[in-house]
Amino acid sequence: MTNYKDLGLVNTRDMFAKAVKGGYAIPAYNFNNLEQLQAIIQACVETKSPVILQVSSGARKYANSNLLRNMARGAVEYAHELGYDIPVVLHLDHGDSFELCKDCIENGFSSVMIDGSHLSYDENVALTKKVCEYAHQYDVTVEGELGVLAGVEDDVSSEVSHYTMPDEVEDFVKKTGVDSLAISIGTSHGRTKFTPEQCTKNADGVLIPPPLRFDILEEIEKRIPGFPIVLHGSSSVPIEYVKMIEQYGGSLPNSVGIPEEQLRKAAKSAVCKINIDSDGRLAMTAAIRKVLSEKPEEFDPRKYLGPARDELKKLYSHKNTNVLGSAGQA
Ligand code: G3H
Ligand code: 13P
Ligand code: ZN
Repeated sequence: MTNYKDLGLVNTRDMFAKAVKGGYAIPAYNFNNLEQLQAIIQACVETKSPVILQVSSGARKYANSNLLRNMARGAVEYAHELGYDIPVVLHLDHGDSFELCKDCIENGFSSVMIDGSHLSYDENVALTKKVCEYAHQYDVTVEGELGVLAGVEDDVSSEVSHYTMPDEVEDFVKKTGVDSLAISIGTSHGRTKFTPEQCTKNADGVLIPPPLRFDILEEIEKRIPGFPIVLHGSSSVPIEYVKMIEQYGGSLPNSVGIPEEQLRKAAKSAVCKINIDSDGRLAMTAAIRKVLSEKPEEFDPRKYLGPARDELKKLYSHKNTNVLGSAGQA
């Protein structure tokens, strides 16, 4: 058993309480490798932002759970070495079983998500409650989910969103003992969050997505005032990266994300955790494609992963400062 406290990590409790009160959101950035982790820590130390390091079950399989745990410990020490101790959470993203959550809790995670959103309401309650009872013995915090996002989450996919029903949230929170709640108000995973048919076009032919359902968010906030809310699928899919990838040989048709103004608005509400993965993938891929295309003779991975890391750092600093409002809050 490795307790997260021995790795220098914290759970989400205080972090979320401060974020809800302060009207900002904590960044939850997914990582699978060294360069992503370096970029996250560099950006969050430089902007003095608390951070949630997020690991999916796919990332655990890809990178090895022992390595990931020790990378998180290293991240805490790296922040210290850079000159500023920021609060760092190690979080399981989209845990799909009690066993996986238990394994993470016993292996240094300070926070887990149990995603029972694809189950019936009663099954979701039962599974989430079971994870909470186990996690809370070790002071690990738990995120649950109500409502289904369109798109792919690891092996689970849904073509349409099922918005969270405000009438269910109070009962769910009470019955499960969950510490935060992921909701569905129109975001979705991946780089195509809306089909072209769901969007309008501006004068330059750029696809403009429909707005998030802030009316549902408001209803939820009325039912559970001050309770920490989480938004998944919150990449903005910056057009510059999509264009850069296409300029250097890639093809990413129908890429549409969540506009930054909408995330900024959400961050000012009870939304206190915003999940971003796809934007990091786009930034890295764009930078790597550029180097490899401009320097076909290059074969030292540091020469293309280094610029990818720098681009990622720039992206995360921008998010913390201009979108989530977490800069200066550590
Ligand atoms: O919600 C999904 C995250 O973007 C993680 O993606 O399962 O491919 O690691 P992944
Ligand atoms: P994006 O695909 O929008 O980055 O969402 C990531 C996410 O929700 C991870 O859980
Ligand atoms: Zn997600």
